[in-house]
Amino acid sequence: MRIAMIGTGYVGLVSGACFADFGHDVACVDKDSSKIDALNDGRMPIWEPGLEGLVKANAERGRLTFTTDLAEGVRGAEAVFIAVGTPARRGDGHADLTFVFAAVRELAKALESPAVVITKSTVPVGTGDEIARILKQEGAPAGTSVASNPEFLREGAAIADFKHPDRIVVGAEDEQAREVLREIYRPLFLNKAPILFTGRRTAELTKYAANAFLATKISFINEIADLCEAVGADVQEVARGIGLDNRIGPKFLHPGPGYGGSCFPKDTLALLQTAEQAGVDQRIVRTVVEVNDARKLGMAARVADALGGSVKGKRIGVLGLAFKPNTDDMRDAPSIPLVNALIEQGAEVTAFDPAAMDQAAGVFEGINFVRDAYSVADDADVLVVITEWDEFRGLDLDKLAARMRGRSIVDLRNVYDREEAERAGFDYRGLGRPVGPATAVRAAAE
Ligand code: UGA
Repeated sequence: MRIAMIGTGYVGLVSGACFADFGHDVACVDKDSSKIDALNDGRMPIWEPGLEGLVKANAERGRLTFTTDLAEGVRGAEAVFIAVGTPARRGDGHADLTFVFAAVRELAKALESPAVVITKSTVPVGTGDEIARILKQEGAPAGTSVASNPEFLREGAAIADFKHPDRIVVGAEDEQAREVLREIYRPLFLNKAPILFTGRRTAELTKYAANAFLATKISFINEIADLCEAVGADVQEVARGIGLDNRIGPKFLHPGPGYGGSCFPKDTLALLQTAEQAGVDQRIVRTVVEVNDARKLGMAARVADALGGSVKGKRIGVLGLAFKPNTDDMRDAPSIPLVNALIEQGAEVTAFDPAAMDQAAGVFEGINFVRDAYSVADDADVLVVITEWDEFRGLDLDKLAARMRGRSIVDLRNVYDREEAERAGFDYRGLGRPVGPATAVRAAAE
């Protein structure tokens, strides 16, 4: 099938490359000519494991093309996906649909024959209706229909998520749209991925509800982690104890410094906006947002605690800056409020991230970047793990300790084993684990 993908951001590029890999003929369109030039040269605008190889292989086979010319990209397409950005509007948290509607207007004029227009961008409930109205008003060919097909990819695991989804959600109001989407995703039915057909508004809301629920799980376990610290329990065991219950499930129960990224913070706020407009209070999601904001702001105090109450004049080594591992994405990363607070309070911060250093350089002022994890430890008073990159898990703790002037680790992702860290001479502080040396904790429990 001939598919056009408008927007070569994260979602558009991954989806376009994966559709091409299914054997479809995909044209990716973006207004940003430097991005399109780079893609035509085989250079990726984002850092995502496996993406470069997938793009190159499909481009070489002629199934994946890149253009800045929307009319050329959509020529002959039976399906046109809209995957442009929907940033949170400054001030009120509304999803900003300027790019979506601009693309739709241009599309309406460019289409020469009817197509199914499908939103992949996360858009508020009712956006599909508005797109249908604009297409009609701007003279799109009769028979053009509008569907919603939200994506559930995680950064860092996007290709695997795309090819092995838990489910595919399609919101459509007519049989033609359902038929086209069934055909596009047919290669995945062979792997038995369930495809769920719903109304358009239901699909739009499903995306927000999914992200809000996952954000709720994270805020829930973060609060339970605080309680564990206060009562001498271990949150990892609690998470395992509840997660083995199939009704709860083990995923997204890892405590951390608060969720970040381009999706949860933005989508929870947009859900609240939708609810407010509809006059329906969403107390749980509102609280989840509050808990997460407070969580991010509370992390600097943990570092201060480890240093006896103040970070002033202290050297702090930071491991990981990206909002999560396997990405260079710094959007809404918990490292931002944390590192900024440490600097404001007079600390000297040195950091390393395996992928996000370039992005981070544009975000922070006054921090030192080093080129490897061990150098972060040089003369540091404390090490703070903010992102759980795999390469940090296997670091030699004795080697780190030998390069430091202090002996503290604040492990905001629970990547280290406390007893092992203590054997290397560290004062170890994880999240949601009993506070104090392991031996003392064991004695208190006996
Ligand atoms: C999220 C969803 O997981 C995807 O299903 C969805 O498609 C995507 O948003 C989107 O809407 O586009 P993503 O933002 O890439 O994906 O990353 P996640 O793996 O969900 O992590 C989000 C944040 O939650 C990170 O800061 C991560 O560290 C944090 N997190 C996640 C925790 O603190 N604990 C956990 O147990 C899981």
